[in-house]
Amino acid sequence: MVDEYTADFPSEVIKEGKVEVLVPKLSAFGVVPSDYAPSRAPVFYNPVMEFNRDLSVLVFRVYQRLVKREISICEPLTSQGIRGVRYAVEVEGVNRVLLSDINHHAYELARYNVGRNNLQDKIVLEYRDANCVLNCNAAPKKRFDVIDIDPFGTPVPYLDSAFRALKNGGLIAVTATDLAPLCGVHAKACVRKYGGKPMRTEYCHELAVRLLASCIVQVAAKQDMGVKFLFSHSSDHYIRVYAQVSYGCQRADDSLKKVGYILHCFNCLHRETVHQLSGSLVCPECGIKMDYAGPLWIGSINDAAFIDAVFVENNMVTFRGKLRLDKLLSQIKSEAEAPITYYVVDNVCKKLCLPATSVQSFVSALQNGGYRAVQTHFNTRGIKTDAPAAVMQKTLKQLVCRT
Ligand SMILES: C[S@@+](CC[C@H](N)C(=O)[O-])C[C@H]1O[C@@H](n2cnc3c(N)ncnc32)[C@H](O)[C@@H]1O
Ligand SMILES: [Zn+2]
Repeated sequence: MVDEYTADFPSEVIKEGKVEVLVPKLSAFGVVPSDYAPSRAPVFYNPVMEFNRDLSVLVFRVYQRLVKREISICEPLTSQGIRGVRYAVEVEGVNRVLLSDINHHAYELARYNVGRNNLQDKIVLEYRDANCVLNCNAAPKKRFDVIDIDPFGTPVPYLDSAFRALKNGGLIAVTATDLAPLCGVHAKACVRKYGGKPMRTEYCHELAVRLLASCIVQVAAKQDMGVKFLFSHSSDHYIRVYAQVSYGCQRADDSLKKVGYILHCFNCLHRETVHQLSGSLVCPECGIKMDYAGPLWIGSINDAAFIDAVFVENNMVTFRGKLRLDKLLSQIKSEAEAPITYYVVDNVCKKLCLPATSVQSFVSALQNGGYRAVQTHFNTRGIKTDAPAAVMQKTLKQLVCRT
């Protein structure tokens, strides 16, 4: 039975995935669809995040099939409940969903949405602080298979509690929208929150993912857990990572071994990864002092086989954003094993005083020269390659001169 509920703010019913939910009517709050932070309504709701929610449904469906058992999911910052309701309906084999929000309007609206979808038997909803909810479920028998942290801004305040409440083999999904710190606009805030120095480079979105990943690894390690990153992406105004944990000191130590630094030469564009910072950081190519980002994750941020399974899953459902999902997943699969960092063709052209050129022809030119080269989802004009910076620049000059 649906609870008696009347929102005391303008609201409307929307359909997303397989569910219908009541959400704030954003037009009444002066929010236009292109706004990325429609937080002017009493309850947060962002239609742009449908893509993020669709992907999460796909990832959790694949995860559930991989672990071959019924799973429990916790989303402790649920707002109107759309995510949790979708997980309960669209992910097979879910036996328990725990949702919570600290905003009373959000809690009331989520309660209505749970009832509207007849999910009272599957979803427990609380009106409590996310850390309380997670810590109250940290006892071994209460822990979750999947925890989704989808906060305003940084997820860092919730990570410790989330790992405490995650089962061995569990999956944690984390969104971060505080890209100004992570991309180096507010570097001190990034060091404070994530424990690593960012760097304002053309590949700052990849650095953002790696800084978040390293923070996750270090939080997990404190609880003797190792982490494997299954899927990571940067889309719209946020980054998101999905990581599977394994209990054990050795696993934690192994993960920590993949935390290091990226050195970058702003003069010749050379970049390299190191495990420790030592010496004077002089560029081996041009002799100028390099800058660095880190500590950050220098291991793999994507698992090609897992992404393949998510790609297949996307063909079994009919989400509105199917084509965009297909594109993102195939791009990420192709770059899953590509070198760390990328070049943005326009930036390199500008530096070399060359006219802009086609990304595809640049990729082909590098491949014809015997190097690996792929486009990256991080930037539509970005390429990842193992060609040294000098070769990359020479190839670009030759390409532009030929065309
Ligand atoms: C970005 S919104 C969540 C959006 C939602 N996951 C979705 O997909 O639409 C973040 C939510 O966290 C809630 N929140 C903020 N701090 C919290 C806390 N300490 N504990 C629980 N909820 C909190 C806010 O009220 C807000 O509804
Ligand atoms: Zn250099």
